[in-house]
Amino acid sequence: MREANLVVAEILDVLCDAVRPGISTWDLNEVAAREIERHKVKSAFLGYHGYPAVVCTSVNHVVVHGIPRRDVVLKEGDIIAIDFGVFKDGYCGDAARSVPVGRISPTHQRLIDITRESLEFAIGRCLVGKRLGDIGATVQSHVESNGYSVVKDFVGHGIGRAMHEDPPVPNYARPGTGKRLKRGLVIAIEPMVNAGAPEVKVLDDDWTAVTRDRSMSAHFEHSVAITDEGPWVLSRASSKPGEFTV
Ligand code: MF3
Ligand code: CO
Repeated sequence: MREANLVVAEILDVLCDAVRPGISTWDLNEVAAREIERHKVKSAFLGYHGYPAVVCTSVNHVVVHGIPRRDVVLKEGDIIAIDFGVFKDGYCGDAARSVPVGRISPTHQRLIDITRESLEFAIGRCLVGKRLGDIGATVQSHVESNGYSVVKDFVGHGIGRAMHEDPPVPNYARPGTGKRLKRGLVIAIEPMVNAGAPEVKVLDDDWTAVTRDRSMSAHFEHSVAITDEGPWVLSRASSKPGEFTV
């Protein structure tokens, strides 16, 4: 799983570097498809419940599952969440990052920062003996205390030989509730954070999830292993078991 996630991290680096005004989300999908071939891995997204691309590109008020399109051309001031996953040797890796397009407003940057921080704080709770609810509670309290809202219609997930395994990993919970975290469990934690209200709706393409109030949204995701040494962020190249990010 580390190997699969290292490929994901490397390709996400390439995709995030490619983000600039004038590039379309379709172009980003082509970059991702080329990288998948180069690394000899398999897309975890293409064909998943009929998903038509190898990457999800969610711009501005798109929360998650934005389908790459030739007519979605990034412009200065946008923010984009890039979500990407592969299978390598039968194991899945899955991660996502929100990044600015060119120069963005401080307001948009703050949304990105709070969302990233909420994931980092949650990673810090990935300890043997803690409970699943400690993860969601950590995300939720950081997000809400900063005036944003957590999306509840989509959740993180266990990950392994399949992309989506048990347990579901919500970004909201009461601390001290839920199943105990055990050594060897790997979960994809993926806070989706709206600048406005938490409600989302899915567009007619049956994938694109947008904020109902059209407020901006950000999304980060890491695949995290629970080990006796502490959290191991499999989808971050520099991570070692027991890393404490915050
Ligand atoms: N990484 C996301 C998830 O965990 C996106 C997968 S949706 C797909 O759900 F359809 F594109 F696969
Ligand atoms: Co995921």
